[in-house]
Amino acid sequence: MERDIENLVIPQHVALILDGNGRWAKKRGLPRTVGHKQGCVTVEQTVEDAARLGIRYLTVYGFSTENWKRPEDEVGGIMKLLDKYLHEAIRDMEKKHIRMKVFGDTSRLSPELQALVAKTDEITQHVKGFQANICLNYGGRAEIVRAAELYAKDVAEGKAEGKLTEEKLSKYMYSADIPDPELIIRPGGEYRLSNFLLWQCAYSEFYYTDTLWPDFTPEELDKAIAAYGSRDRRFGGVKT
Ligand code: IPE
Ligand code: IPE
Ligand code: MG
Repeated sequence: MERDIENLVIPQHVALILDGNGRWAKKRGLPRTVGHKQGCVTVEQTVEDAARLGIRYLTVYGFSTENWKRPEDEVGGIMKLLDKYLHEAIRDMEKKHIRMKVFGDTSRLSPELQALVAKTDEITQHVKGFQANICLNYGGRAEIVRAAELYAKDVAEGKAEGKLTEEKLSKYMYSADIPDPELIIRPGGEYRLSNFLLWQCAYSEFYYTDTLWPDFTPEELDKAIAAYGSRDRRFGGVKT
């Protein structure tokens, strides 16, 4: 199908809540992990697609601080896939001109995964173009608490002044150097944030679709962006 993307207003920063992997697998009588595996394929395709569309930053919610509550074998399966994904990222991201960053508390990941995260960061740090942020053991509340702690530490060490502002606190978030997402997309049919980007979503536009994440296509992304383009963003003001 020919894509009609010429008239799309492309947001600088799009955030994605990957959801529906488990249900995608269940519908096919397969283990949930197979859904996660297919979800990874969709992530790879969407990262490339977003770069092609001219999106500057794509932030992907891959594993939340709450996802540790899942059965051990499911968490183990996700961690294995992560290992594979990061190995491939190290191999490909630089060639594909993708800057990759991980948002979240990686200290709870295995030492092997932590090393892979550090390596991906190192290898892609000079890449200037498109940036993919992968959220792992990420929680919006945990991010805000971490920012407050880092700020308090800087104040105690005389590196920051005691008057806190929104702008200052923003600099302690994982997203310090990048704009807030204009658009947050949630596939999988649920209408909630599930602790994603709580600080950054203040004025984001939301787009929900019933499509399960492994079935998400470039056309779905176009649809979400088209919906975003038709929104009247007032930021608390009035239309003149
Ligand atoms: C998203 O799919 C992947 C993660 C949260 C790790 P789910 O595993 O939440 O899939 P559903 O919502 O159970 O279908
Ligand atoms: C949100 O999906 C977390 C990620 C996509 C990583 P969940 O499936 O964990 O969220 P809930 O349980 O539906 O809120
Ligand atoms: Mg889910």
